[in-house]
Amino acid sequence: MIEIKNISYTYMKKTPFEKTALENISFAVNEGDFFAIAGHTGSGKSTLIQIIAGLIDLQSGSVEIDGESVKNKTARRKIGMVFQYPEHQLFEETVEKDIAFGPKNFGLSDEEISARIDEAMKQIDLDLNLKNVSPFELSGGQKRRTAIAGILALKPKYLILDEPTAGLDPKAKKILLGEIKKIHKARTTIILVSHSMEDIANLADRVTVLAQGKILFDGTPKKLFGQSEILKQAGLMPPPITQIMQKLQQAGLKVNSEIISFDEAEKEIFSACR
Ligand SMILES: Nc1ncnc2c1ncn2[C@@H]1O[C@H](COP(=O)(O)OP(=O)(O)OP(=O)(O)O)[C@@H](O)[C@H]1O
Ligand SMILES: [Mg+2]
Repeated sequence: MIEIKNISYTYMKKTPFEKTALENISFAVNEGDFFAIAGHTGSGKSTLIQIIAGLIDLQSGSVEIDGESVKNKTARRKIGMVFQYPEHQLFEETVEKDIAFGPKNFGLSDEEISARIDEAMKQIDLDLNLKNVSPFELSGGQKRRTAIAGILALKPKYLILDEPTAGLDPKAKKILLGEIKKIHKARTTIILVSHSMEDIANLADRVTVLAQGKILFDGTPKKLFGQSEILKQAGLMPPPITQIMQKLQQAGLKVNSEIISFDEAEKEIFSACR
């Protein structure tokens, strides 16, 4: 479990540029959760996950990973962090070397590293024949998956992804989301930062909404999409399919507006029109 208690954070403290990014944030992520963090640009999402991963030092409050402070290296090592546009950090000559970079820093044996490279590439559906290819020859989606494989090779218990589908075309986006879903099924706890209510609807069991550094909501995506005031305050919109169902209901069709997937929507509309 990851327990976050009373986290506040201010950038450039005691200067004219002082900016409070987080205010008194508390929540817990349980093992096996698919936990989403949503919020408008500048709401504090990236600051929060960097504090959780121990990449930004705490100013107040505490972060405990399985009961151990994030200040300890053993706790931090349980967390894998995929930054936004992680492919910008690819730098080795080959895909294999890039994926091996993290595990090498962990001091693992060559044998273990090699096994982990294969496993990570399979997990994220990268063709093993790409191992000796330069990362710069890959497609955008493949580059991103190579960068993620480098984190998977560290075998994190908790995987944090900051806007993993940003800038990908619809097909690459769909593939990547499917893979993230599989990684979760294979028992990795996921924390996903996303602007996309659609992605959150399709993947997350729980979502916390940040607005101006504060938690506005913590609960299931379904519950969130029914709370138009909270969404408005946070500068977010429900997924398109939920918006359509809400409009149909307002127009008098007897449908449930708490719908977050196309399959459910199809069934609802069919039975309402019958
Ligand atoms: N290095 C920094 N120095 C000063 N202020 C910063 C720094 N990084 C972030 N901030 C400010 O802190 C606030 C929260 O930023 P953060 O990057 O955590 O938001 P975010 O929710 O991740 O936004 P986005 O959706 O655009 O990625 C913003 O007002 C931002 O301008
Ligand atoms: Mg961010």
